[in-house]
Amino acid sequence: MHQASPSAVRADLYAPIHKALRSQMCHTMCRVGEMDVHDAADLQAGLAQLDELLTACLSHLKHENDFVHAAINARQPGGAHRTAGEHLEHEQSIAALQAETQALREAAPERRGALALRLYRHLALFVAENFQHMHIEETANNTALWQHYSDAELMQIHHALVSSIPPTEMMQTLRWMLPALSPQERAGMLGDMQQGMPPEAFRAVLDMLRPRLNDGAWRKLAGALGLPAQQRAAHCV
Ligand SMILES: [Fe+2]
Repeated sequence: MHQASPSAVRADLYAPIHKALRSQMCHTMCRVGEMDVHDAADLQAGLAQLDELLTACLSHLKHENDFVHAAINARQPGGAHRTAGEHLEHEQSIAALQAETQALREAAPERRGALALRLYRHLALFVAENFQHMHIEETANNTALWQHYSDAELMQIHHALVSSIPPTEMMQTLRWMLPALSPQERAGMLGDMQQGMPPEAFRAVLDMLRPRLNDGAWRKLAGALGLPAQQRAAHCV
């Protein structure tokens, strides 16, 4: 197993989005396991959450291919070979999971239980593969990036990647990412957003986030961001 490098002092393109994906994968895998296949509304809601995860995974693959793997290969030819190959396998796994999802949607009631269990198991294997894969990216790929790029250059790559994401997709990503971060990481990211966003857009992010944090985490964030007492109270429902 690759050992984690002392990454705290270097810009890390992977850490926040991978925390988001790990959280979304775990929650969604459990949600699929809990589905009641004989309750139409519950089944459709569970599969809709799975659709959202698979769409997010495809988008994430493209972001890494276009921006991160491209950067590694530009200065270390072939440096992203392993994880790029795994991305191709992930695309095939996602297509298979989408086909199984559709088959479950269309199945007769007596077939749904078996199809749901098959889908849950295959989703669990996909999550397991992704956990292995993300560890390689956060260690081996980060080592390559840190060797060949300055932090300023890495932040330029990050800015270009983030700028390519439409607002709706960005909000969906933040919905998983912000609760998945440590209080310090969360305050740092939101502090940057507070500086760079119109107040009403920033308020929309806080409104989305508040129900997803417990009271202790919300108090830490409100204190770190210096939110006015009235706004803190308004959000502490
Ligand atoms: Fe990846």
